[in-house]
Amino acid sequence: MDVRRIGVVGLGAMGAGIAQVAIEAGFEVVGREVSDELGAKAAGRIRHFLSRKVEKGQRTAAERDAAVGRLATATDLAELADCDLVIEAIVEELDAKQELFGELERLCRADAVLATNTSALSVTEIAAATSSPERVVGMHFFNPAPLMPLVEVVRAELSTDEAVEAALGVVERLGKVAVPCHDTPGFVVNRVLIPLLNDCVRVLDEARVTPESLDAAMTNGAGWPMGPCTLVDLVGIDVHVHASEALYEKLREPRMAPPPRLVAMRNAGLLGRKSGRGFYAY
Ligand SMILES: NC(=O)c1ccc[n+]([C@@H]2O[C@H](COP(=O)([O-])OP(=O)(O)OC[C@H]3O[C@@H](n4cnc5c(N)ncnc54)[C@H](O)[C@@H]3O)[C@@H](O)[C@H]2O)c1
Repeated sequence: MDVRRIGVVGLGAMGAGIAQVAIEAGFEVVGREVSDELGAKAAGRIRHFLSRKVEKGQRTAAERDAAVGRLATATDLAELADCDLVIEAIVEELDAKQELFGELERLCRADAVLATNTSALSVTEIAAATSSPERVVGMHFFNPAPLMPLVEVVRAELSTDEAVEAALGVVERLGKVAVPCHDTPGFVVNRVLIPLLNDCVRVLDEARVTPESLDAAMTNGAGWPMGPCTLVDLVGIDVHVHASEALYEKLREPRMAPPPRLVAMRNAGLLGRKSGRGFYAY
């Protein structure tokens, strides 16, 4: 399928980033938010990031204006009716996503591909809320979407080759790196990274090292570009704990469970960079 028009549902951290990447690549985008105010705020943020690129000489002002001109925002989901692909990036809750996919199926063209950006839910379970699960796939972008090259393209149990290929084709046109995979808990990166980061946090207490020392050990001894404590602070301790809990629930492997130290930090509001304090102060 020749994808020209993309719908993005939810213009939060991920959805706004995905919408930005798509308009920069020349796609027409309709972004849906729950209120006009949130839609305008997201569009303003996207324009701001594109203007920064103009200041840095990475884009011309005309390119920025053309890209911004390809973005429309809406509150009514029906505005996504003529999209070739819809990417969902709403809150990480199965009920909310299933309800949304039911509505999208009713409103969108029968040949439109419906994708979810879920991190830890089952794409197959989301697809099961529709009567056309064959056109549902996962497109798992990484945060921040404009900077991170990877998109995991997730084949659910009943996804067709056509739906997967349409998603892979879009990822290529976005200039990103696609890794196709099957629908398993955590897909590829989180399946590896989440237990690994949990191990790192447990080592803090077991080896009695400071976050600074652990980060120094992993950057200097293992060649990591960023230490694990810096990375968890960047991801958000609440986001990491939530993803760990979701993986633990599905796989029942002790390493997937969030370490009590991280749960306590989350409960105390120490969420990392976004709250101003996590392992480090910002
Ligand atoms: N933040 C990350 O690091 C990251 C990375 C990859 C994937 N994801 C996934 O992307 C999705 C969005 O995450 P985010 O970090 O952008 O969240 P966010 O909180 O920044 O944005 C959530 C969006 O969902 C909308 N929303 C909330 N409840 C809704 C509902 N009931 N119906 C419709 N819209 C609703 C909000 O208006 C907002 O636009 C989640 O599934 C998350 O797991 C997040």
